[in-house]
Amino acid sequence: MFELPSVDNNTLLFPSFMSTAAIEFSGVRKSYGGKPVVNDLSFCVKTGECFGLLGPNGAGKSTIARMVLGMAMPDGGTITVLGEPVPIRARRARARIGVVPQFDNLEPGFTVRENLIVFGRYFGMTTAEIEAAIPSLLEFAHLETKSHARVTELSGGMKRALTIARALINDPQLLVMDEPTTGLDPHARHLIWERLRSLLTKGKTILLTTHFMEEAERLCDQLCVIEDGCKLVEGTPQGLVQKQIGTEVLEVYGGKPHELRSLLAPYGPRTEVSGETLFCYASDLEQIRVPLRELSGLRVLQRPANLEDVFLRLTGREIRE
Ligand SMILES: Nc1ncnc2c1ncn2[C@@H]1O[C@H](COP(=O)(O)OP(=O)(O)OP(=O)(O)O)[C@@H](O)[C@H]1O
Ligand SMILES: [Mg+2]
Repeated sequence: MFELPSVDNNTLLFPSFMSTAAIEFSGVRKSYGGKPVVNDLSFCVKTGECFGLLGPNGAGKSTIARMVLGMAMPDGGTITVLGEPVPIRARRARARIGVVPQFDNLEPGFTVRENLIVFGRYFGMTTAEIEAAIPSLLEFAHLETKSHARVTELSGGMKRALTIARALINDPQLLVMDEPTTGLDPHARHLIWERLRSLLTKGKTILLTTHFMEEAERLCDQLCVIEDGCKLVEGTPQGLVQKQIGTEVLEVYGGKPHELRSLLAPYGPRTEVSGETLFCYASDLEQIRVPLRELSGLRVLQRPANLEDVFLRLTGREIRE
């Protein structure tokens, strides 16, 4: 397995008198072509936690990740990463960060090993240090048998796994992962989750963007949902579900969701339409089921509320469709 420093080392790196924040955004703004894409955004990622950024396509997640790295310049506000003001001292911060960009940027003509070597050199590692790290990184990525394969010969999922392993070569304190498991099959995704959890138990901090609500629910200690660059809500996964939705949800499909919504309106549930499904949120779902029994051809599913409900409700999916 990949050798990581013990928690004691981490404690030495973050003595108690220092800030326990790995990332701090305060009133950060960013526009492209006059259009605000990050809007007066403030949040704090605590050392040792997994902080998830959720939001629909174009919400500004990758722009935030790039600003953390000093790769996109904020127009206003302040950013501190691992105690360094960013972007001014972003290079110093980046030396202690592992990055998984949304789109892989591996060297296509190089082999798996060569990609790891090139990246290690970028961080000023010696050949001996890189050679010592490679076996555990290959194991992490499940690429032990592919070490001499060129990137062009890898599947999409293998490339993703290599990108994640590559991000660990400098034994970073902080990982900035932009949709790390997109393109992985469910088995590979579960393996990566397990490995990311083991990094967290060793004291690493992770900033994660994802469209997989299950990923956010399983990995993240804290979540921030953004839309159009603005924070909508922030909280723990369970706290957000409880506060925004409640305990149970009724899904109704097989009918015309907008007509069903009108029919149910007198019973007062909060509703959300996504595609051909009507989602109903109410404290007494039994009452909602009564008028639905009169209708034929409907499928009604009552289930525990989850983060996807929070996401659909907050980001008003129906409005954009
Ligand atoms: N370099 C750029 N130049 C101009 N506009 C940009 C640039 N980068 C991002 N944008 C715009 O900023 C907005 C936010 O983009 P961003 O990539 O941060 O969204 P995202 O939340 O990561 O989306 P996705 O989930 O699709 O990856 C979008 O409207 C996008 O078009
Ligand atoms: Mg993105």
